[in-house]
Amino acid sequence: RALHTTSLKLAPRRKPANHFQPRASTFKVAILGAAGGIGQPLALLIKMSPLVSSLHLYDIASVKGVAADLSHCNTPSKVLDFTGPSEFANCLKGVDVVVIPAGVPRKPGMTRDDLFNINASIVKTLVEAVAVHCPDAFILIISNPVNSTVPIAAEVLKQKGVYDPKKLFGVTTLDVVRANTFVATKKNLKIIDVDVPVIGGHAGITILPLLSKVRPSVHFTDGEVQELTARIQNAGTEVVEAKAGAGSATLSMAYAAARFVESSLRALDGDNDVYECSYVQSELTDLPFFASRVKLGKNGVEAFVSSDVQGLSEFETKALDALKPELKASIEKGVSFAQKQA
Ligand code: NAI
Repeated sequence: RALHTTSLKLAPRRKPANHFQPRASTFKVAILGAAGGIGQPLALLIKMSPLVSSLHLYDIASVKGVAADLSHCNTPSKVLDFTGPSEFANCLKGVDVVVIPAGVPRKPGMTRDDLFNINASIVKTLVEAVAVHCPDAFILIISNPVNSTVPIAAEVLKQKGVYDPKKLFGVTTLDVVRANTFVATKKNLKIIDVDVPVIGGHAGITILPLLSKVRPSVHFTDGEVQELTARIQNAGTEVVEAKAGAGSATLSMAYAAARFVESSLRALDGDNDVYECSYVQSELTDLPFFASRVKLGKNGVEAFVSSDVQGLSEFETKALDALKPELKASIEKGVSFAQKQA
């Protein structure tokens, strides 16, 4: 069968009882930072989605070649390329979902926060353009440090008077994807069935996998909990070190982001059974931004899975207390950067 008649099954959490039939080729998606290590494979995966009518590729580097290459795939979406800020209006007008992987990645020895000085300004500039040209779009932030870049984006949108907290998402899907893979491998489970909620933020100890809430229900020893939690928290560094200076996770990140984009499009399309973990404005804890499972709908976040912060194990309760000061500081750093630049 032709590729465009099959649907991408990136999100294994969909319940089999859901008989929702997606409409075809309806939505416009823009990738800002599309020439990069994440941007290119992400563009390829989004090009495979039957829900996309137009795929807009933007970068400060030329994306002409990437667009020409992708445009030969026989899937329904048109691929258009845009280079430099003079093309913001054409790129963003009418777009439903904007994904932002623009910015520099880590090198060995760097933390995500070391990227702040460069990536904060990039995210600010791009979100300002989104605020002007497609303020109603879902905005998916990949650029690190996500713990700070999402609060920066929120401030910029507030300054422009168009902030809708339900439509601003920090993409933490890679933490879930990694957790699912590592748990399935460790416990010899069928990988497609495994779902690990990951809460908190997206850096080091702020990444908190809830191993007490894994589906299917599975028992871990204390040692396994410690080992798996540490591996999930440091998985990004595993890739940075293996790439030895050539960047951070790009292919697994593109896979994870494509899953979140597909979930967003299904929600926009009216599917009533879409859940993902994401770092969003939240009232689940005393922190203004927090990652947890959320239900996605046509207008963005429709509900929080509040049980994600209830009934935690003793290990998780301690880990949640321990992550809060770091996450709070990262949020405040982002907010104060955006306020100083206003
Ligand atoms: P890369 O360096 O390969 O690509 C970045 C792209 O952004 C380049 O094509 C560059 O030209 C473009 N860019 C830079 N400034 C721009 C601007 N002002 N406007 C538009 N485009 C601009 O980097 P890679 O590997 O694709 O990573 C991108 C970001 O994603 C990094 O900040 C990295 O830390 C982050 N990341 C986030 C993850 C997550 O789980 N949220 C996981 C992995 C990486």
